[in-house]
Amino acid sequence: MEMDRRTFFKGMVFAAAATGVAATAGCSSQPKPRGADADPRPLPIPPLEQGTLQGNVRRFELTAQEGEYEIVPGTNTKTWGFNGPFLGPTLYMRRGETIEMTVRNELPEPTVVHWHGLHLPATADGGPALMFGPGETWSPTWTVDQPAATCWYHPHPHEKSALHAYRGLAGGLIIDDDDSAFSGLPNDYGVDDIPVIIKDANFTDDGQFDEDNGWLGDTVLVNGITKPRFEPTTQRLRLRVLNGTTMRYLHLTLGVPFTVVATDQGFLENPVEVDGVLLSSGERVEIVVDLEPGKKLMLRSDALPDDGGLTDKDAVEEFQVHRKFDLLEIAAPPETVPASPALASTLVPFDAPTSATVTREFRLNGMEINEKTMDMSRVDEVIDHEGPEIWRVTNENSAMLHNFHIHNARFAVQGVEDGDVEFTSGWHDTIAVPPLATVSLLVEFGYYPDPTTAYMYHCHMLNHEDKGMMGQFVVVKPGEKPALAPPR
Ligand code: C2O
Ligand code: CU
Ligand code: CU
Repeated sequence: MEMDRRTFFKGMVFAAAATGVAATAGCSSQPKPRGADADPRPLPIPPLEQGTLQGNVRRFELTAQEGEYEIVPGTNTKTWGFNGPFLGPTLYMRRGETIEMTVRNELPEPTVVHWHGLHLPATADGGPALMFGPGETWSPTWTVDQPAATCWYHPHPHEKSALHAYRGLAGGLIIDDDDSAFSGLPNDYGVDDIPVIIKDANFTDDGQFDEDNGWLGDTVLVNGITKPRFEPTTQRLRLRVLNGTTMRYLHLTLGVPFTVVATDQGFLENPVEVDGVLLSSGERVEIVVDLEPGKKLMLRSDALPDDGGLTDKDAVEEFQVHRKFDLLEIAAPPETVPASPALASTLVPFDAPTSATVTREFRLNGMEINEKTMDMSRVDEVIDHEGPEIWRVTNENSAMLHNFHIHNARFAVQGVEDGDVEFTSGWHDTIAVPPLATVSLLVEFGYYPDPTTAYMYHCHMLNHEDKGMMGQFVVVKPGEKPALAPPR
């Protein structure tokens, strides 16, 4: 067993997992993905949308709309997207700027958009109470007050987040700052700094999304298409990978070691070399890989290390933890590209507080958290102070995968009990909670006191969320009581 390079379970490293470099694509019992026999197509790069900048104010316009897209070669699938038929542009913003966002709903039903990973006022956060109808617009505003990170945006309508995201409403969001132009770190969007948005889907015989059986898709898409290929022009690539699937955990491998530089909420203190990364739904990771002339690579999702912590045979089947997928072919770079300078060995100092005065417990069980399902009129937790808290999150199910996401927050993993895992540093906003394990999270919240509007915490396996595995918290001034405004 290699002692240095292991599977990076985002915050957690599987202690005993042999990560193995993958053999062949798929195994015989695995259904063949759509488009598997077609030739590879060039990887689409979502347009980088910088909005319009006036002084310190950056304005964006997003329209949620219907369309059609050739996800699988030769088939037009009815889709939803932002400012286009499918998925959305990558939004670019910098720390310190004020954002004025206008979102227009041209869909046939109400929706709302959540800025996943951002720290902002609850009225801008895009929870289900803020849904708006067809023909309406919503104009949230906030100031970017967090370090550089790869975040994303997706709908959050009550009981329909999975469906809206599955139809294609999802896009990347890059927060940049003045402190992250590290030596050797690629940052030319679309050239050597590449968004990799992973979704999965099932299709009906006539090539439409199968919405009755879509929660673990047999076909995996990157930036909206099957079987993509990227032709690099540089020796080093930075991949900003988003697990945008509804329910599928990914075990990312490249067949060669690669370097993790950032987790959900930004840069690590030091780059970490790994053989694989486990990424649950909603999580992001930024990786850097050095290419060799004449050698192409395949970004794959392999069987989950340690079966994701599942021991029950049926659950192993149900969550498809043995499935393998080819995600993205990376062609060999030209022989002539110059080698990149050494990657900085120190990135952003990790300054997590070491203690907190308030501890809360969250028990994930079935589709409930602490024996309750989501109720938009109920406030589950009130945070009336500015400092950090410890949130202890337990997956009480031996036969179910769950993860945990907190809005308007970042957290460090302090410890894991009853799980065969270790953890490493790094800031997260979403984390896998292995079966029967408890993770202790040191959480820092954005402090925008407002008793009228709630933030969410939930399992980010989106159909668990839609079935009620979600709760609400409000952030208020000391001693203030919540007073939720009626849904919009
Ligand atoms: Cu990306 Cu409330 O979630
Ligand atoms: Cu979120
Ligand atoms: Cu869950």
